[in-house]
Amino acid sequence: MTSIILGQGRDGSSIELDLPELLATRLLVQGNSGSGKSHLLRRLLEQTANVVQQVMIDPEGDFVTLAEHYGHLVIDVEDQSEASLRAAGERVRAHRASVVLNLEHVEAEMQLRAAGAFLNGMFEAPRAHWYPVLVVVDEAQLFAPVAGGDTTDEARRLSLGAMTNLMCRGRKRGLAGVIATQRLAKLAKNVAAEASNFLMGRTFLDIDMARAADLLGMERRTAESFRDLARGQFMALGPALSRRPKLVAIGSVETASHATGPILVPLEPVPAEELRDIILEPIAELSPRPRRENRPPPPDLLAQLDAYGTNRDAAEISTATATTTIEADPDTLWSLVSEVASGDDADYKPLATLYQDFQLRARILGLPRTILDLPSFQRILINSRVGLDRSRAETEEWQQAEHVAHTLPEDVRGVFLLLARHAWDALPCPDDDALARAYGTHSLGRARRQLNYLEEREVIVLQQTSSQRRVAIVGIGWSTT
Ligand SMILES: Nc1ncnc2c1ncn2[C@@H]1O[C@H](COP(=O)(O)OP(=O)(O)OP(=O)(O)O)[C@@H](O)[C@H]1O
Ligand SMILES: [Mg+2]
Repeated sequence: MTSIILGQGRDGSSIELDLPELLATRLLVQGNSGSGKSHLLRRLLEQTANVVQQVMIDPEGDFVTLAEHYGHLVIDVEDQSEASLRAAGERVRAHRASVVLNLEHVEAEMQLRAAGAFLNGMFEAPRAHWYPVLVVVDEAQLFAPVAGGDTTDEARRLSLGAMTNLMCRGRKRGLAGVIATQRLAKLAKNVAAEASNFLMGRTFLDIDMARAADLLGMERRTAESFRDLARGQFMALGPALSRRPKLVAIGSVETASHATGPILVPLEPVPAEELRDIILEPIAELSPRPRRENRPPPPDLLAQLDAYGTNRDAAEISTATATTTIEADPDTLWSLVSEVASGDDADYKPLATLYQDFQLRARILGLPRTILDLPSFQRILINSRVGLDRSRAETEEWQQAEHVAHTLPEDVRGVFLLLARHAWDALPCPDDDALARAYGTHSLGRARRQLNYLEEREVIVLQQTSSQRRVAIVGIGWSTT
């Protein structure tokens, strides 16, 4: 497959985008806020996800949902240094990993530095790793601005240099830039000029329209028609799209954006005095809880295993689903799960990957892979991570702790149960390193924030003595020493 369907033309015909041509000739998307640029990029990424490596520079965290769906790695830059981002950029090329660089949680200055370092890392990868990769940058005017904003010159130079490399010198290195901007007039000229394909959406400002007309080599009066485009409609032009400007209504997408359009909801009148109390009520400061979600296991390896399947396998799986209980010795399951838990870097791997590892081991022992469902697997995994064996995990006391854990969001349960286990055995409070591992992050700061979050949820009480922390678990009456 070399072409994808981008959407429909005026007459309802399919408008295609030639992928190999795009990789060679790059793409610029422009349109005012709400014109549908991010939707368009999502369509492009979804349609090509299984064909070409993708890197998404995502200033708004909009594409994290796409990553979850297609198994892309999400890199949250707040946890990373510039040097490690540069190294990550290089490794992404060596391993041909599809990645979303999530810049949502950092300030403008750090957004520039992070994107610059990562893109430069990709650009500087050794020749042996110059595989084709689609590099998509949303809100490109942030990273390649015409003029300075609130950021330092140094950060701007770094990021602009990286964007120039991407668009002007990237092709030979396999980097195919796709950039989208709200304001063409705010995007550095040399960066915009290197794209040979254009998708122009609704545009209001004369100055943007004039730039668009220049780039497309069309009369300014013709460019006026960009005002009349509806949301989701773009004028397409370029070797990968069409030799003459052609209208395209972008097709639908599979994954949802976090951002939804405005919805009008009827107002309910509330008396002003009552409103005062509500609006000016003293605040309880809640620290935001970082987002971290698990995605369902990708099928690949197991699907391959299944492809070798014999009748025996089919019979085995059908009995497993028919009776739902094939008895396996619980101790065997526990030891299988602890082997998975103690694997290299297992603390930092997504649940889905670990579960897949478990299923593989189960299959090797001749057990059906349906032997343990995901929630049960996760339960044993957490228990074994916090150092409990089956007999202790099944005591009534511990089940109480697990009960409390279940009232919490999934990603902090491990942290809570680690604290609970230490408290149960009257051990000292686990150090930041251990907490970070339990949360599956390398960032100590992020791990410490989970303690505050747990305290806000009133499942633990923190008592700080100089450098030592003391934790009491609410409701169970345990406390670390
Ligand atoms: N082709 C389309 N079909 C259906 N809905 C669309 C289409 N294009 C855009 N939308 C919807 O319109 C809204 C705005 O689109 P989108 O977020 O892509 O705009 P944008 O140009 O990226 O805006 P901004 O510059 O503010 O980020 C979204 O809710 C999106 O789902
Ligand atoms: Mg957008």
